Amino acid sequence: MSNNKCPVTHLTMNNGAPVVDNQNSLTAGARGPLLAQDLWLNEKLANFVREVIPERRMHAKGSGAFGKFTVTHDITPYTKAAIFSEIGKETELFARFTTVAGERGAADAERDIRGFAVKFYTEQGNWDLVGNNTPVFFLRDPRKFPDLNKAVKRDPRTNMRSATNNWDFWTLLPEAFHQVTIVMSERGIPASYRHMHGFGSHTYSLINAQNERFWVKFHFRTQQGIKNLTNEEAAAIIANDRESHQRDLYESIEKGDFPKWTLFIQVMPEADAEKVDFHPFDLTKVWSKKDYPLIEVGVMELNRNPANFFADVEQSAFAPSNLVPGISVSPDRMLQARLFNYADAQRYRLGVNHHQIPVNAPRCPVHSNMRDGQGRADGNYGSAIHYEPNSFGQWQEQAQFAEPPLKINGDATYWDYREDDNDYFSQPRALFNLMTDKEKQSLFNNTAAAMGDALDFIKYRHIRNCYACDPAYGEGVAKALGMTVADAMAAYETDPARGQASLLKPVKYK
Ligand code: HEM
Repeated sequence: MSNNKCPVTHLTMNNGAPVVDNQNSLTAGARGPLLAQDLWLNEKLANFVREVIPERRMHAKGSGAFGKFTVTHDITPYTKAAIFSEIGKETELFARFTTVAGERGAADAERDIRGFAVKFYTEQGNWDLVGNNTPVFFLRDPRKFPDLNKAVKRDPRTNMRSATNNWDFWTLLPEAFHQVTIVMSERGIPASYRHMHGFGSHTYSLINAQNERFWVKFHFRTQQGIKNLTNEEAAAIIANDRESHQRDLYESIEKGDFPKWTLFIQVMPEADAEKVDFHPFDLTKVWSKKDYPLIEVGVMELNRNPANFFADVEQSAFAPSNLVPGISVSPDRMLQARLFNYADAQRYRLGVNHHQIPVNAPRCPVHSNMRDGQGRADGNYGSAIHYEPNSFGQWQEQAQFAEPPLKINGDATYWDYREDDNDYFSQPRALFNLMTDKEKQSLFNNTAAAMGDALDFIKYRHIRNCYACDPAYGEGVAKALGMTVADAMAAYETDPARGQASLLKPVKYK
């Protein structure tokens, strides 16, 4: 309800008692000091300094909306998840889209990946698909995730973003190259949240009624069409409007132009994972659509703006660990790390009872027997006994939902992904070769612009990486940076500023 439609209210304190004067503080005399018994002033100031909660460590700037998911195709051969049980079934949802590196007040139209998080309120519990607008990620080992955030966020001394820090890190990790290529491509600045696809990115699993497991990738394809901004268009927008994505999403929903995405899945039978000639749980790689075609599932529509941004968008808590029977995890080590980290972040950011905040609360009964804790706002399970096992049938586990056993073997050590698979470039090369000449030129120009004032040896190193991917990619980026590949490669080997060698094996030129 907009403000002018709200019913008249009478101001009270938090205990419900009337506020007599909201203009003048309680003082001793017309020109005298405050009285400590000005209860309303104390309460007002106390609340004011507690209004700001910690922002999300990344994905701090975002927009959210409620909507529904409708099943249009039968995928019950792959999953018993109640949300997909029949064609036509509708499930309520809440989605939040984000930029990643910027803080809560950052501008929307920045070159960055976009978060694409959806919370489905299913009858068997909340299922959160916490993805991005890209099918891959910079990393394939969670060990490097905090470093990634340090590299792309502000420098500890200057408190400014640093092209040197950012590109030093990216170019030292060749597995980041695929994602870097996407971010520097024309898709690197979506025109709005409505005009981009969404991806679960990781491999997850589906489990059907016969308790068979399938590996799965989730894809949301925008029905609004892909639309992007050039650097110049984005700069012009930011000069006038830092909230361009928020405005676009909010206004389109307000005027009844509800954005929609079609959900597809790619499915791999469990046993194939051992046979395929690529690592099916590697987050820096996509699955071929020829081998694993897109299977249509349903439609997501966003149709209701939150009445209060803080209540629903700021306090929303998405976690890859919010899974339901029929949808589960995979051995992807990035996903595995996220299973603990999100809820942990939310216990810090929102408190231990964050799952009770209305936007996060499941729409089905919850009987977790987790009680008490700061901010507990429900009946706390009343007088029900709180131990298990007990003789009264309380808190019974539900063994019928057990997943099929997952075969795992191997010696415990710090397995080096790079020894297992050092093919960093075939997929970005395929992507590069799909681009038109114009798109390739945008990739070169965007890369050069983003590298900005990064130190020279970092530019040389990136040119070397691009050249290793495809000579034309290397030549194009070199030219956009005002040099040649030959000069860059020679300079890289001798640059005294170059510290740690790239994790990439030496690249031969010609
Ligand atoms: C937000 C950790 C990788 C998508 C967050 C948050 C944390 C986090 C702590 C803030 C949560 C909160 O305060 O509510 C990590 C770690 C990762 C990782 C440790 C890797 C090891 C990824 C990947 C994706 C992703 C691969 C996409 C495929 C998101 C999104 C949000 C988010 C969309 C914002 C959710 C929202 O709208 O509230 N991440 N992340 N993250 N992450 Fe990640």
